Amino acid sequence: MTVKEQIEALRREIEQHNYYYYVLSQPIISDYEYDMKMKQLQELEEKYPEYFDPLSPTQRVGSDIATGFEQAYHTYPMLSLGNTYTEGEVKDFYERVRKALNEPFELVCELKYDGVSISITYENGEIQRAVTRGDGEKGDVVTANIKTIRSIPLRLKGNYPDKFEIRGEVLMPWAVFEALNKEREEQEEPLFANPRNAAAGTIKLQNSALVASRKLDAYFYYVLGEQLPFATHYENLQAARTWGFKISENMKLCRTLDEVWEFIHFWEKERKNLPVPIDGIVLKVNSLEQQRKLGTTAKSPRWAIAYKYQAEKALTKLLSVTYQVGRTGAVTPVANLEPVQLSGTTVKRASLHNADIIESLDLHIGDMVYVEKGGEIIPKITGVEKSARLQNGKGEKVVFIKNCPECNAPLIRYPGEAAHYCPNENGCPPQIKGKIEHFVSRKAMNIEGLGEETINLLYENGLLKNVADIYTLKISDLVTLERLGLKSASNLINSIEKSKKVPFERVLFALGIRFVGETVAKKLAYAFKSIEALQQAEYEDLIQVEEIGDKIAQSVRQYFSDPKNLEIINRLKAVGVQMAINEDASKRKGNELEGKSIVISGTFKYGDHEKYKNLIEAHGGKNVGSVSSKTSFILAGENMGPEKLKKAQTLGIKLMDEENFLSLINEEIPSSASE
Ligand code: IVH
Repeated sequence: MTVKEQIEALRREIEQHNYYYYVLSQPIISDYEYDMKMKQLQELEEKYPEYFDPLSPTQRVGSDIATGFEQAYHTYPMLSLGNTYTEGEVKDFYERVRKALNEPFELVCELKYDGVSISITYENGEIQRAVTRGDGEKGDVVTANIKTIRSIPLRLKGNYPDKFEIRGEVLMPWAVFEALNKEREEQEEPLFANPRNAAAGTIKLQNSALVASRKLDAYFYYVLGEQLPFATHYENLQAARTWGFKISENMKLCRTLDEVWEFIHFWEKERKNLPVPIDGIVLKVNSLEQQRKLGTTAKSPRWAIAYKYQAEKALTKLLSVTYQVGRTGAVTPVANLEPVQLSGTTVKRASLHNADIIESLDLHIGDMVYVEKGGEIIPKITGVEKSARLQNGKGEKVVFIKNCPECNAPLIRYPGEAAHYCPNENGCPPQIKGKIEHFVSRKAMNIEGLGEETINLLYENGLLKNVADIYTLKISDLVTLERLGLKSASNLINSIEKSKKVPFERVLFALGIRFVGETVAKKLAYAFKSIEALQQAEYEDLIQVEEIGDKIAQSVRQYFSDPKNLEIINRLKAVGVQMAINEDASKRKGNELEGKSIVISGTFKYGDHEKYKNLIEAHGGKNVGSVSSKTSFILAGENMGPEKLKKAQTLGIKLMDEENFLSLINEEIPSSASE
C-alpha cells in the first residue's frame, strides 16, 4: 500500500467510526482505538502535506483562525412554520388540508428539535457550504463550524443526488449543555439559559476549534433539490439516512387525526427521556406533489405546521426566601416552596435570580406561585396567582436583604449589574471556602484530595483560613482530624508539594481575582511576566493588553490594593509557588504556531527575517531553513527564492503572505510600511 492509499484508507475508516459513534450511537471500537487511529492519520498528514484534503476527518478539529462570516443567499428561501398551541388549531390545519386537496393524503409526524436551523448544500457527495437561517433569504456561511460536528457527513455514501440541499437542526444535547454551564459557572462566565441559546452561541463563534470542543449534534428533517429520488418526504428522509445523515427514528406516517394525537400525546411525556431538547412536533403532508398543490404563504408552507408543547407549569405556595453566598460574594435569592410535582420531579426550591425579578413579580410570602422548568435546568418562578391573595390575604412583601446572611457585611451592587455582592472577601465563610475550593481545582493548582468536605473540616478546625494556609498543613495536623487516614494525609501533602511547580499563569488564575478566568490569566501572565510587574501595573498599562478592558483592569487594581491579598501572595511566594513565568516560556506570546515548522522566504513590508523568526518562536513555532515535506507553510514575501517556490509547489506546501501571517498570530499589521 502506498502512503497515499494508507492515508485514504484511514480517513475512510475513521469516518465510518464517526458514523457508528455519532449517527448510530453504536461504536464498534473503543475510544482509545479511535484516538490512536486519529493520531496515526494526523501524523501521516503532517509528514505528507501533499495529500492534504479539506474533507479529512482531522479537519473536524477546527482551527482558531478567526474567519468572520460571509453571507450567502439561500437557493430556496428558508421559511418558518406556523405555530399552534391547541389541539383545536391542529384540527383546523387538518381540515384545511383535507378541503384544499380533496383527495386522500398522509401526514408525517416528526419531533420539533429545539436548536438552530441550518441548510447544507452537497455536490457530488461532498459538503459544499452550510448557511444559517438568517432572515430566511440569506444567512451566515458557517461551513467551518458545521464541519466540526461529527454526526454531519463530509462525504456521502450510497446513491445520493448530484446536487441537493438538506436542512436540519444543530443541537446541544442536554448532557453537554449541563456540563458546559457547570464549567461556565466555575469560570464565572454567564450561563446559557437553555440548550438552544447555547447551540446558537456556539455556531456563531469565530473560533471553530472552540466550536469543536462544544460537542454539538445535528438531526436532519428536510431534503430539497431538483432530482430527489422519491416522490414523498418520508421516503426521501429514509434515503438520506442511507447517505449518512442522522435522521430521527422517531417519526410516524399517519392517515388519521387520531394517529396524530397518539404521536403528540406519546411524545409529550416521553420527550424528557430524549438526550436532546425538543419543544413540539411538526406535521408535514407527505406527498411532494400535494405539497406543491398546497403551496406556501409569504412566511410558511401551507403543507406543514408545528404544535408546540406548553412549558410544564405547577402552582404552589411560597414558604420563604433564603439567600446563598457564592465564592465571588454574589448573593442569589432562592425561593423555598411547598413541594410540588413538576415533569416527574419534586420541586422544593426555585431560583429567583436577583432583586429586580423579585420586585417585578411583586412577591409576598404565602403567595401561590407558578413554577416552570421549560428549557432551563433550575426551575424558576414565572408568575404569581394574584386571585389567591383574595382568599388567603397578602403575606409580608419579599424585600431583598441589605446585609450578608453569612457575615452581616452590608451588601453592594455594582453599577450595571443585577446581582448583589457581599464585599467581605476575606472574612465571609462561604467566600473563604469557595476561594480555597477554586484555588485547588483541577484547572488551577490541581491539588488532589482537598475536596469540599475536607476544606470545610480544616476551616472549622481553624487550620485553613486562606489559600496560603494550605502550604502550612502538616501530616500531624491532618491525621488528627476525623476523616483523614495517614495514607490520604500523606497523598494530600505530596499533592500540595507538587502544586509548587504549577506555572505562573495557572497560579494567577487560581488566586481567584474577579473576572480573571483561565484565558485572561494567561494573557496577563504573558504580558507582565511576574506578579510584581502585574502588581505595579497601572490601569493604563493593563488595558493595553489584548482582551483586557475596563472591568478586568479595575478588578485587578482593586485586588492588589488590598493588603490582605498582598500578604497571601508574599506567603505563597515564600513557600516556592511560581510567581513568574519561567525563562523558556517568557518569550512566549501565544501558542498559535505550536508544532509548526515554518520557512521564511522573500522580502517583507513590515519587518525583516529576524523579526519574523522571533515572532515565530514567540508563538510556539520553529523557523527552519529549507523546504521539506515536514514544512507546515512558507511565510512568503516579495521575490521569493525560485528554488524554494518550486519545491513548495511540488510538495504542495502552502504559502502565506505577511498580512495573513500577522493576523494568524494576532499581531497587529503596522499602519505604515517600514520600507
Ligand atoms: S421543517 C418548511 N421539521 O422549527 C419547513 N422544522 O418554526 C421547514 N424544526 O426553522 C422546517 N424540528 O428550525 C422542520 N422536524 C422538523 C423540525 C423543524 C425543528 C425547526 C426549524 C424551523 C423551525 C420552524
